[in-house]
Amino acid sequence: MTKLTLRRPDDWHLHLRDGAMLEGVIGDTSRHFGRAIIMPNLVPPVVTTADARAYRERIVKAIPAGDTFEPLMTLYLTEHTSPDDVEEGKKSGLITAVKLYPAGATTNSHGGVRDMDKAMPVLERMAKIGLPLCVHGEVTTPEVDIFDREAVFIETVLDPLRKRLPELKVTMEHVTTENGIDYIRSAEKNLAGSITTHHLIINRNAILVGGIKPHYYCLPVAKRENHRLALVKAATSGDARFFLGTDSAPHIDPLKECGCGCAGIYTSINTMSCLAHVFENEGALDRLEAFASLNGPTWYGLQPNPETITLIKRDEPVDFPKKRETGAGPVTVFDPLFPLHWDVA
Ligand code: DOR
Ligand code: ZN
Repeated sequence: MTKLTLRRPDDWHLHLRDGAMLEGVIGDTSRHFGRAIIMPNLVPPVVTTADARAYRERIVKAIPAGDTFEPLMTLYLTEHTSPDDVEEGKKSGLITAVKLYPAGATTNSHGGVRDMDKAMPVLERMAKIGLPLCVHGEVTTPEVDIFDREAVFIETVLDPLRKRLPELKVTMEHVTTENGIDYIRSAEKNLAGSITTHHLIINRNAILVGGIKPHYYCLPVAKRENHRLALVKAATSGDARFFLGTDSAPHIDPLKECGCGCAGIYTSINTMSCLAHVFENEGALDRLEAFASLNGPTWYGLQPNPETITLIKRDEPVDFPKKRETGAGPVTVFDPLFPLHWDVA
């Protein structure tokens, strides 16, 4: 097969940042994607419906002329989030989900939740009104090995929460382990998972073998190869509980290439090419549409995009820029370490 037409995809987990960075990166998403769930971890974070409304306006202003793109806004859950504000955000159609960052889990997450009990009133309201919780599924306690953070989160935070509030709809974002995949598969209802482009392609060797490679460092950190294989199997299976959330997370190069580099991989620009490669290798090109364009909208109660995009397999590798130049500085583009032949027409 050398040509594939699918419904326009969506990105169910995206960092767009703000200001010059937002302006520099948004076109890489709006070129291919119809909608994206926008992460709220700005400095300061997007915590109220009013913050989200203002941020949405800044995003819409930055969309390149001619592109149709709908940002789906989220709120950053804190121990002080007001249930009434969240409900108003959902009712007004502005808020698609609320995001849980355990405090300290990743970039700009120090204002996240330390004590889940304190977040219960808002989580109970969300369960009542049918507003999904997106979770960054990692514990941050120093005794837990960074490669075990996801498995421990499932056992000590996520499973108890889901038992306490079975009606709460939870998206386990950027699943990186076989444990996560198995946990989602074992749930009877109200649990789904997004998978990033890069976690389908790299394992932890990409970060550490032959020298330290900061552009492959993200959180949750890539795991062993057996975990990557479990992610590929889930993504390409057609199972409606798994869908694309790129977690494309731009940082300027000086903040990645230093003594304490930021977590985040920038994949917006070549995600569809990377995914076509992965799905083709699995003999599953016919399931790419489910993963990238159909399963996500179904989970979030939306219609698939009406438009389509067409992917073409070229004889020569497609040339992507090595860096996205932005007004904030250069951002290195994800290199999958193999040539990409699929191109969005
Ligand atoms: O690698 C990551 N980068 N993981 C996250 O959870 C946050 C993101 C960012 O905002 O840079
Ligand atoms: Zn993220």
